[in-house]
Amino acid sequence: MNSHLLSVEDLNKAEAIAILNTAEELGKISDGPMKKLPTLRGRTVVNLFFEDSTRTRISFETAAKRLSADVINFSAKGSSVSKGESLKDTAQTLQAIGADAVVIRHSASGAAQRLADSGWISAAVINAGDGTHEHPTQALLDALTIRQHFPNMDGDLSGLKVAIVGDILHSRVARSNVLLLTKLGAEVTLVAPPTLLPVGVESWLASRSYDLDRVIPSMDVVMMLRVQQERMSNFFFPSAREYSKAFGLTNVRLAHLQQTAIVMHPGPMNRGLEISSESADAENSVVLEQVANGVLIRMAVLYTLLGGVPLHSGSETTL
Ligand code: NCD
Repeated sequence: MNSHLLSVEDLNKAEAIAILNTAEELGKISDGPMKKLPTLRGRTVVNLFFEDSTRTRISFETAAKRLSADVINFSAKGSSVSKGESLKDTAQTLQAIGADAVVIRHSASGAAQRLADSGWISAAVINAGDGTHEHPTQALLDALTIRQHFPNMDGDLSGLKVAIVGDILHSRVARSNVLLLTKLGAEVTLVAPPTLLPVGVESWLASRSYDLDRVIPSMDVVMMLRVQQERMSNFFFPSAREYSKAFGLTNVRLAHLQQTAIVMHPGPMNRGLEISSESADAENSVVLEQVANGVLIRMAVLYTLLGGVPLHSGSETTL
């Protein structure tokens, strides 16, 4: 594995499965009386967030703290970035304070790659979402959540049918998930209005549909995406009501899911727009499991990149 995690493309199938397995092992230990492990004691993880975030930032922070790393939270608002400091100066400052890992979220696609390739910093760079490009740890936590519901001998997702529904155009979550879930053997169908599909989607390893009602009954997993109004400068659909009617997970559609199917959403949710409140809170909704798994996946990624000592499940002192 590379010393950075910038894209799902950085992982082959075996490496992705190894991260899922490590996350599960860490989960077993975290369920015990001692949540905190000494693995990354003395290491420094910087959360460098140029874009708003709730879940992802606190998830990385919790993960790093559970591994006993020191965590510095840096958000662009209220920092010298708002005074015009460049990414280069910010990176050099982080280098000078001795960061071992930098978790970066940025509105520009390619920002994590830029930081990793720049030579400004020797830390491991982890992409926590770059523009509309990628969000690899989200895809990993989604894969873990799916695998927990549909376990098999190979530890992958072979044969599972997954629909990713909604604002694919603006979604780094969709792109990373298509790459990872197909690598793990799932069949992915994208469901969206034509205006919310990106140019070049034909080359993605996923089929496409404009008809959610037709797709729903055969799916094992239905992943709803947030309508990203903050990235929309144009009109992409006639009205919120029309959008929900055609592409929302309504109560009626919820009732047409297979009994074993699960409902996912990366959050934050627009209840009543892409997902009804009843669907978000339904028994087969795994939204909060996704959040919990997020911590385990980020622990596993930090552990893997920063070269924590080998894992021996259940044995506190070896970690
Ligand atoms: C996603 C993101 O920021 O890309 N959220 C997240 O990380 N949990 C999806 C979104 O903002 O809709």
